[in-house]
Amino acid sequence: MYVYIKSREKAFTWFNTMEKKASMASAAAIWCMLVYLAMAASMCSAEPKSSFEDNFSIMWSENHFKTSEDGQIWYLSLDNDTGCGFKTKQKYRFGWFSMKLKLVGGDSAGVVTAYYMCTEDGAGPTRDELDFEFLGNRTGEPYLIQTNIYKNGTGNREMRHKLWFDPTLEYHTYSILWNSHQIIFFVDRVPVRVFKNADYENNFFPNQKPMYLFSSIWNADDWATRGGLEKTDWKKAPFVSSYKDFTVDGCQWKEPYPECVSTTTEHWWDQYEAWHLTKDQKLDFAWVQRNLVIYDYCKDTERFPKLPEECTLSPWD
Ligand SMILES: *[C@@H]1O[C@H](CO)[C@@H](O)[C@H](O)[C@H]1NC(C)=O
Repeated sequence: MYVYIKSREKAFTWFNTMEKKASMASAAAIWCMLVYLAMAASMCSAEPKSSFEDNFSIMWSENHFKTSEDGQIWYLSLDNDTGCGFKTKQKYRFGWFSMKLKLVGGDSAGVVTAYYMCTEDGAGPTRDELDFEFLGNRTGEPYLIQTNIYKNGTGNREMRHKLWFDPTLEYHTYSILWNSHQIIFFVDRVPVRVFKNADYENNFFPNQKPMYLFSSIWNADDWATRGGLEKTDWKKAPFVSSYKDFTVDGCQWKEPYPECVSTTTEHWWDQYEAWHLTKDQKLDFAWVQRNLVIYDYCKDTERFPKLPEECTLSPWD
């Protein structure tokens, strides 16, 4: 059975956010009206959306990739032959990266949809990486999300979370905030993981190298679902995950180094407000910590008799 967590506290912070959104919406409406009156033009109409090719290229198996007729939804599929992946054409250093995903429904055990940022195409020995991985499951059993962080080829910073919704029914937003103070993984704007920079030389915080953003779907039935016990049922193939609304508000990398240096006060994602959780985010994050964390490497003293150094850093600072 899929267990949905209900919480009054959760409803309360959502309510707060909704209220803010509502007042922002009305402010926007008034602004739009003023613009309309002043210019008597259609300034309020939406800008044309960008196409897949503007931002991305396919990494492998073009024939397992499809878009909707209007080009706004993208589908990656996995079958017995192969999966599929795409990546951004540009690299970025710091910013806000966001996409809506709807994951493979039904029996998706063994199937992993990955959505991640990485400094290079492959699993190179010096790569930095920020991962969201969605671990499929048997019909009716809950998906888990696994997040991980790599620096210079070293990872082992896994966390696993349950979700408070079924991610196969609708699109939900998965985002990464990255500046030189913290990395936050968000699900529908709720911070599920906070990774801090301790700010000493050579610490475990990836902030030097620019990254691409990737997504891919692949078979991982050797480890993903119940530790590899549940195998992919190929009779259910193809497995399809869907994407839309890619947003990046970050610093696009240009050679030569150093491009995209921090300490700028130009961008919201690199200002003081974005160096720490906000008050509302702290409430949401506390709720996630209490209810949704399945695994945290920082608590795994069997695996790490001496915990990695960054485990002493507080996400609340
Ligand atoms: C899949 O479902 C089983 C049974 O509910 C659960 O124990 C497991 O954590 C779920 N997810 C994964 C990735 O194994």
